[in-house]
Amino acid sequence: MMDEKILGLKERFIKEFGERGELYVFRSPGRVNLIGEHTDYNGGYVFPAALTMATTIIARPREDSIVRMMATDLGEMVEGDLNTIDEYKDLKWGNYQFGVFKELRDNGYNIVGADMLYDDTTPHGGGLSSSAAIEVASAIAMAYLGGRRDIDGIEIAKIGQMAEHHYIGVNCGIMDQFSSAMGKENHAIFLNCKTLEYELVPVELSKHGIKIVVSNTNKKRSLASSKYNERRSECEAGLKILQKYIPDADCLGDISLDEFEKYEDKIEDEVIRRRIRHVISEDDRVKRSVEVLNKGDLEAFGRLMNASHDSLRDDYEVSCAELDTLVEEARKVDGVLGSRMSGAGFGGCTVSLIKDESVDKYIKQAGAAYREKIGYDADFYISEIGDGGKFLGKI
Ligand code: GLA
Repeated sequence: MMDEKILGLKERFIKEFGERGELYVFRSPGRVNLIGEHTDYNGGYVFPAALTMATTIIARPREDSIVRMMATDLGEMVEGDLNTIDEYKDLKWGNYQFGVFKELRDNGYNIVGADMLYDDTTPHGGGLSSSAAIEVASAIAMAYLGGRRDIDGIEIAKIGQMAEHHYIGVNCGIMDQFSSAMGKENHAIFLNCKTLEYELVPVELSKHGIKIVVSNTNKKRSLASSKYNERRSECEAGLKILQKYIPDADCLGDISLDEFEKYEDKIEDEVIRRRIRHVISEDDRVKRSVEVLNKGDLEAFGRLMNASHDSLRDDYEVSCAELDTLVEEARKVDGVLGSRMSGAGFGGCTVSLIKDESVDKYIKQAGAAYREKIGYDADFYISEIGDGGKFLGKI
């Protein structure tokens, strides 16, 4: 399906890279996590959905080992040689792509030189996984250009995740790349991050007169990746202690809330104890969310979202004044069922479930209060749940 937008991108591609041969089009989305934060790397459950905001790539293979890339909104050409693939880690833009190409090669894929135009509609650094969208779209594109036609979404998601670990240095979980690769229109993904078994759960909120509103703090995130890795280490430390009492637990996702409560005082360090309490209680909330949603009880789901935010703020300590302000303002508006930070935290976005008739009121009220308290504007998007990454066709 080639829309107007793609035709515009084709023109831009030809302007930047010249006219020669067929072009290939790929697209992969950002995501919003409805509930289940900081559980993925602990082998727990998450419940994200792919967005319609996405990275689109127009690509054409070359005869040599050079990759030239340009983003429509950056306007600067980045060039690298696949033979010296380790040299691009410090690029401000393009490093994620080279990380993915390297990971593909290390996993036995053929990679080829290419000219690639990127167009992102997921806000950069906004907590909606614009980087996973870039990784998954790049992996699908390069695998395809290298001759693969049997592209497996879960394998592509793992390649994106490993590129972050090995090339970028962030030990992220699998949620973002999995959502980007495996999402489905109007469905959320109930994913067991230990086994990667998943279920696509229909999310037809319009039937209930409800919208998912994403609110972007627009906060510049600085220490996010070091804090993220710090949380991972804290979880590992807590798990080690609990394993003395629950020896068959491989990860925190294997430990129930009851078991945790039985042994929590064995964790002497109060900070570590709170971190673990968040992860295990959050995992429990994800399972309960899917149960109440299956019964159509959106009010109960909203309450679980609120509890998730409080736990992330107080026990996991990954929220910030900007996120808390948006959540507090949401809770003041009638018709807001639930509101929480979504993603890693320290900035980024909140996700809220809001009745149709209250959406404008929320945006107006929260927008004004945010500007007053924080000093700059937040952005608001009504999100639609889109499809996962794929090859769209030739143009
Ligand atoms: C980031 C990571 C994910 C996940 C979330 C927190 O988005 O990339 O793997 O850990 O934070 O839930």
